[in-house]
Amino acid sequence: MTAIVVDKLTKRFGDLTAVDCISFEIKEGEIFGLLGPNGAGKTTTISMLSTLLEPTSG
Ligand SMILES: Nc1ncnc2c1ncn2[C@@H]1O[C@H](COP(=O)(O)OP(=O)(O)OP(=O)(O)O)[C@@H](O)[C@H]1O
Ligand SMILES: [Mg+2]
Repeated sequence: MTAIVVDKLTKRFGDLTAVDCISFEIKEGEIFGLLGPNGAGKTTTISMLSTLLEPTSG
């Protein structure tokens, strides 16, 4: 069963696009990781999923 659906999630800080239109689904019980270099947008993504940050769109 699908637990989380992310659809075209985007976050901009002024002119800087921190998260650029990402989409993915996570199934119940699935272990899901975000990999990427410093500044790739991992923390921003998790902050939006956990409602600590308001998405720009998506
Ligand atoms: N509150 C904020 N205001 C302005 N820019 C921000 C803010 N938070 C993050 N950014 C910028 O957004 C981009 C993504 O940052 P983020 O912290 O999500 O990356 P990260 O993948 O978690 O990096 P790291 O591996 O260093 O933890 C970076 O360019 C960062 O400077
Ligand atoms: Mg981080």
